[in-house]
Amino acid sequence: MASTSAAPHDADAEMDRQSVATGYSQMSITPSVYSFNSSRDGVALLRNIQGRTFNAQNELYFLPADEVEYDRLEKQHLMHLVACGRLYQEAEKVQRLLAPEEGVQKRILDLGTGAGNWAVGMAMEFPHAQVVGVDLAPSTTWPPPDNCRFEFDDFTLGLSHYYGSFDVVHSRSTANGIKDFEWFVNEAARCLKPGGILLMIEGSVEMLNSNKEPQEVAWGDDTPGQSWMARTLFECYNTMKRRGSSIDAAWRLYDLMHKCPLLDEVQTKINLIPVGPWEVGKTPDEDREKRIVGILMRQVFTELVRALQPLFLTEGYDPVLVQKFIDGTDYELNNLVVHMYAKYHFAWATRNDVPIPEDEPEAEGKGAGEGANNDDGSQSGNSSGTRRSRRTTPPPEPDAILEPPPRATRWTPELIGSTTASLRGSMVSSASGWRSGSSMDMSDTRSVRDMDD
Ligand SMILES: C[S@@+](CC[C@H](N)C(=O)[O-])C[C@H]1O[C@@H](n2cnc3c(N)ncnc32)[C@H](O)[C@@H]1O
Repeated sequence: MASTSAAPHDADAEMDRQSVATGYSQMSITPSVYSFNSSRDGVALLRNIQGRTFNAQNELYFLPADEVEYDRLEKQHLMHLVACGRLYQEAEKVQRLLAPEEGVQKRILDLGTGAGNWAVGMAMEFPHAQVVGVDLAPSTTWPPPDNCRFEFDDFTLGLSHYYGSFDVVHSRSTANGIKDFEWFVNEAARCLKPGGILLMIEGSVEMLNSNKEPQEVAWGDDTPGQSWMARTLFECYNTMKRRGSSIDAAWRLYDLMHKCPLLDEVQTKINLIPVGPWEVGKTPDEDREKRIVGILMRQVFTELVRALQPLFLTEGYDPVLVQKFIDGTDYELNNLVVHMYAKYHFAWATRNDVPIPEDEPEAEGKGAGEGANNDDGSQSGNSSGTRRSRRTTPPPEPDAILEPPPRATRWTPELIGSTTASLRGSMVSSASGWRSGSSMDMSDTRSVRDMDD
């Protein structure tokens, strides 16, 4: 078995064989696959912080890249699958775009693929399509299907080697690794063929209570109804914002797609997911579904609070407080003493015919970069061997990147963003394509009850 940590040499050899067999030779475009060697690259691509493994490419993205995290991502993926009923929004259009067509290779790009669950799911549903999953550190523990490959890359260095190539581009929960999310939306749109669809999902760090209002955070005085999990996410927001991440991307998804000159027909919706099996469905099927997503969501959040521990400790939080985040979250979720919803923002849009402007920089936000030329004239993301940055100018000093906003101590309308109100209006109008029983109805305040696992 190949691993993200050091592995025996025979496992390395097997991994390399699979990498070549499943990746490069299968794909007709962008021969930029990074041939992974777990002994060599495990050192170069990964690092250890506070007992967890992290990517070593992008300082901004500060969640682990290890088996525990990949398990968490898989549960989150399953939660979305159950809550949404399928892998993608706008089903009729996605299926039409990806239908087999004589002489046309259909292609799907998953930016920030993580454990690769979505990419592999799409590869299995559309076996004639080619799927590429890009990540700082994609999971390499099992080989993907033949029509899917994973590529090690930092997409904030630019994706010009992929411009105009894909029918579907997808990105889910990647905002932590992105400084300029407006740039990212534009760059993802550029990877689409005209008529192709961009699908984006970001989770909000703002938790809601069972009345679907902002959840009060715990400050340590044991006030009933307050939440340590909400406090953890609130501190996560403060910390990641200070470090420069687009942690508020969920609130801006719709507006940024709307603003992108390459995109039309922008739509959005919000899914509210109960954290823990506390919400009652209207029918036995809906009840079962809510219970399943609630249990998955609880597992995702108890792990997330632990995954954030290295970030908090690195940022100088008191270890006793960080342990309280974990213990408090475990207690309130395991005993269902606080009933909360997690909020996921979905937005999708169609690539129009507007040509890509030629004179704009490739890399995120600033500094133009160049990809290495491949034999076919296209440009590669990573070539084999050592990692190569596409930046031609040195990255700015950290202080220039991180302009810390004032530290917030509570959620304010400014923090949450003025777009929330307009999102609520538009999500109701775009809800019809979704499975009934999803959490779209924001006025729905049905009673709640505790349930055992
Ligand atoms: C929270 S995980 C989500 C994974 C997957 N999209 C999912 O929904 O299961 C975010 C992933 O985005 C990747 N990521 C974040 N910033 C990135 C960047 N600049 N370039 C490539 N991958 C990035 C991370 O390495 C991580 O695997």
